[in-house]
Amino acid sequence: MKNEKVEQIKIVLNEDMKQIHTMNELNDFKVKYLGKKGLITELNSEIKNIPNEDKKEFGMLVNELRTICTSFYDEKKELLETEVLNEKLSKEVIDISLPATKIPAGAPNILEKLVEEIEEVFMSMGYDVVDGPEIEEDKYNFEMLNIPKGHPARDAQDTFYIEGDEILLRSQTSPVQVRTMLKGNGETPIRIICPGKTYRRDDDDATHSHQFMQIEGLLVDKDISLSDLKGTIDVIVKKLFGENIQTRFRPSYYQFTEPSVEVDISCFHCKGDGCNICKNTGWITVAGAGIVHPNVLTMGGYNPKEWTGFAFGFGAERLAMLKYDISDCRVFYNTDLRESKTFDRKEAE
Ligand code: DAH
Repeated sequence: MKNEKVEQIKIVLNEDMKQIHTMNELNDFKVKYLGKKGLITELNSEIKNIPNEDKKEFGMLVNELRTICTSFYDEKKELLETEVLNEKLSKEVIDISLPATKIPAGAPNILEKLVEEIEEVFMSMGYDVVDGPEIEEDKYNFEMLNIPKGHPARDAQDTFYIEGDEILLRSQTSPVQVRTMLKGNGETPIRIICPGKTYRRDDDDATHSHQFMQIEGLLVDKDISLSDLKGTIDVIVKKLFGENIQTRFRPSYYQFTEPSVEVDISCFHCKGDGCNICKNTGWITVAGAGIVHPNVLTMGGYNPKEWTGFAFGFGAERLAMLKYDISDCRVFYNTDLRESKTFDRKEAE
């Protein structure tokens, strides 16, 4: 059987197939024959005009046409794509004799490096390193640390409030103590450090920065005393500044610890004789610390009759300045590779 329409399409199709040289032409071809309103698709609606006994054969003719179209499309597509690729490859020339672009080697940020070193030491003593939000709520940054609204201690921290008087940039890493206790449900012992950024409304100079870093520590367990705190601080200080360094506690005052202490280390530079670094006292202050205040334990969900703990807070920049003999804390925050490399070299010596 021959069908007029099928024959006509076959002729046009054969002509069309010879004319295709680009992807665009090939896509037009696909639409023309196989698209929703394509010639072959429309043949299907022809079937109702075909006498019953010829319907089957007509169907086969249409299928044959469709197969010709689709296999042509697939083969041509592959061919054209290869052509495009080959052309691109032949145009791209790589001159392997050109000198390579120099990528300067980086150097670790010295503050970051020191923090990592401290993390290692605490992890080896079974501490977890945890994180807390830098955008903090007043209740965690102050209230639950035993510093109620209107308390004068708040003034000393010159806090950046960012929304009313409830949302602020944390002025210390101590709120992480509260957050960690709340997670412990009053029944899990706690051993964490939290290094992190803190913010205060300070004018930046050699020893002040509106953004600086603290390393907070908290341990909550049974029968914890000041000597546990002293032993722990001793380990980290010796690791950072040398085996011969002594630690001493001076009475101090923080709202969230009772008793509170200031941690001094013996001057690693003059060994106690007196020099610029220790301001002729033989001692250098490196942290605030103390036994966690019962109110803070209670607000954190821990029963102070059962649990005790200690907390401490180091100023990371101060430690790094002492350890690497840096006089301007702004170097930690600029990206001058020459400086980072100098410290890196110094440390390797
Ligand atoms: N948060 C205190 C500050 O910013 C430092 C501090 C002191 C942290 C004593 C402590 C602590 O955990 O026990 O000045």
